[in-house]
Amino acid sequence: AFVVTDNCIKCKYTDCVAVCPADAFFAGPNFLVISPTACIDCALCEPECPAQAIYQQDALPPGQEDFLQLNAELSEIWPNITEVEPAPADADVWNGVPDKLKYLQT
Ligand code: SF4
Ligand code: F3S
Repeated sequence: AFVVTDNCIKCKYTDCVAVCPADAFFAGPNFLVISPTACIDCALCEPECPAQAIYQQDALPPGQEDFLQLNAELSEIWPNITEVEPAPADADVWNGVPDKLKYLQT
């Protein structure tokens, strides 16, 4: 499956949901995750993310390994999202800020 990683936190552009043919995205207050059971590995979402936060699970950047389990767990709790929503007003300010896991709202 594909995995949403750290840089999505507080950016949450939601461009990814527009292209997903499997409705595999689930949304929290300031982060999205992919359900590993819904994802069909089509790879369409990866280039759509303005924050470059989406990776195939076997190609996660160093330090992003914990997001594999986080996507699996939170996708069981959060509601499905299938429509693009406006990004937070300060999304561009947070794009590229490292180590945003401490800001994750659940
Ligand atoms: Fe959806 Fe394809 Fe991305 Fe999986 S890889 S989350 S199926 S767009
Ligand atoms: Fe997050 Fe990128 Fe989607 S910032 S909401 S994974 S478009």
